Amino acid sequence: MRFHVVTIFPELFPGPLAYGVTGKAIDAGQVEIIPVDLRDYAHDKHRMVDDTPYGGGSGMVMKPEPLFEAVESIRQKAGIEIPVVYLTPKGEPFSQKRAGEFRKGDQWILVCGRYKGVDQRFRDTLVDLEISLGDFVLSGGEIPALALMDAAIRLLPGVLGNEDSPGEDSFSRGGLDGAYYTRPSEFRGMKVPEVLLSGNHGEIARWRDRQADEETGRSRPDLRGDEGDTKEN
Ligand SMILES: C[S@@+](CC[C@H](N)C(=O)[O-])C[C@H]1O[C@@H](n2cnc3c(N)ncnc32)[C@H](O)[C@@H]1O
Repeated sequence: MRFHVVTIFPELFPGPLAYGVTGKAIDAGQVEIIPVDLRDYAHDKHRMVDDTPYGGGSGMVMKPEPLFEAVESIRQKAGIEIPVVYLTPKGEPFSQKRAGEFRKGDQWILVCGRYKGVDQRFRDTLVDLEISLGDFVLSGGEIPALALMDAAIRLLPGVLGNEDSPGEDSFSRGGLDGAYYTRPSEFRGMKVPEVLLSGNHGEIARWRDRQADEETGRSRPDLRGDEGDTKEN
C-alpha cells in the first residue's frame, strides 16, 4: 500500500507513523509513505503556493497550478489514476468504515490543505473524496492525513497480531469497546471484577458484552443498534 502525501511540510512524514505497529509495517515494506513537497511545483523563485482570495477577505488560498501539477506528476509516474483525497473540515466525517475501505486500496494521494484551503477548481476537478477528521478546524491537513493513514495501516493483514485483533475495537462491532484490567488484581484498594478472575469464559464474554454495552449507552447512545463498520474486513 502506498500513500503519496502532498504537503508544504514534507518533513512531518512519516512522523509518528514511524513508531509502533505502523512503523513495523513501513519497515517491512508493507506500507510506503511518500511525502510530496508542493513547493516543488511552484512557478516562481520564492516557491509560492498561495495567493490572496478573489473577492477580498482575510487569509490566503492555495493556488491551483502547483496542486494540479503535483497530482498529475504523481499519477504520470505511477502510470495509473490514483484516487485523490483532500483532507478538509467540509468533507465526510472519517470513520472506522472508511478506514477499512482505505486499507483495501493500493495507492492513495492525500492532499493536505493550509491557509483558507485550496482553490475550488482543484476540488471540482481532481478530488475524488473529501475527508474530515471531525467538526473542528485545524491549521493544516497533515494531522488528519496521519490519522487517516494510521487507522488504515493498522487494519492491514498481519499489522496487528491475533492477540490484538481490530475486530474487537470500538466501532468494529457497532458500539464501543469495553473496559480492560491487568495485574495486580488489587491496586490501591481497587479490585478487578471477580468474574474476570473466575476462568469461566462464557461468563466473562457475557460480562464484557454487557460492560461494553453500558459504556456505549453512557458515552455514545447514538451507536446503539449499529451493525458495525469493519465486519467484512
Ligand atoms: C485553516 S484550515 C481551512 C479551513 C476552511 N477555511 C474551512 O473553514 O473549512 C486549513 C486546512 O487544514 C485542513 N483541515 C483543517 N481542519 C480539518 C479537519 N477537521 N479535517 C480535515 N482537514 C482539516 C484542511 O486541509 C484545510 O484546507
